Amino acid sequence: MSANLPLEAWYQGRVLCFGHRGASYDAPMNTIRAFELAADYGADGVELDVMFSRDGQVVVIHDETIDGTTDGHGRVADFTLAELKALDAGRFKGEAFAGERIPTLDEVFEAVGKRLLVNVELKGLSFRADGLEARVAEIIRRHGMAERVIISSFNPMRLRRFRQAAPGIPIGFLHEDSVPAHLRLLSRALLLGVSTEADHPDQRMVSAAYVVEQHRQNRRVNVWVANDPDRMTALCEMGVDLIMSDRPDVLRKVLDSRA
Ligand code: G3P
Ligand code: MG
Repeated sequence: MSANLPLEAWYQGRVLCFGHRGASYDAPMNTIRAFELAADYGADGVELDVMFSRDGQVVVIHDETIDGTTDGHGRVADFTLAELKALDAGRFKGEAFAGERIPTLDEVFEAVGKRLLVNVELKGLSFRADGLEARVAEIIRRHGMAERVIISSFNPMRLRRFRQAAPGIPIGFLHEDSVPAHLRLLSRALLLGVSTEADHPDQRMVSAAYVVEQHRQNRRVNVWVANDPDRMTALCEMGVDLIMSDRPDVLRKVLDSRA
């Protein structure tokens, strides 16, 4: 398997349980509540999404705009951290979550870094270098998280730059079926020369043959997003290494019943 020893130490012959954007079925996605709940459910780790605020802070949020998950409107990149912190990032999921805030990557590592492995997804499809990779690498090092994170992105240029910024930290290339085949090939070509320790496919693309081929190329197969127990079982039977789910409680039970 891959030469990245810290990443290999994660698996120990078992399929890992990750909460996608935290326990995002039960709690507001990408919030401390959602990450803590994933830990309480017994997840091994969480996936989260990061991008820059206007003043260059690394914030944890999925959409390019704040409209879907907060009480504000506009692009994340147009707000300072202080402005983003004034927004309610929980009420969209129910009154019980009112007052939840958009966290920074720093705050997530502080809250759950000792309990959970973390898949940091670098958002942003532009090829322009904006410095996000070096900032994220610096935050990871400062929190002593280098052996407890994996970086992923749909953007091959972000993975190239992250590998340069932090050569020892594992990376995984994200891809999904809906992207036309020629664009996926182009994307892969841009990665040429950068070896990735993991493949992060949409689970709908995966088959047993797919897993065999990735393993042959020394890549772990970390899939997203499975919420149905039968599909989780099928993915395990195909040989995947890590499953991301909005329902890590359901996934935990499926994995434990197979152990
Ligand atoms: O990292 C896996 C998955 O989160 C990628 O897609 O849109 O949910 O961030 P998205
Ligand atoms: Mg994501």
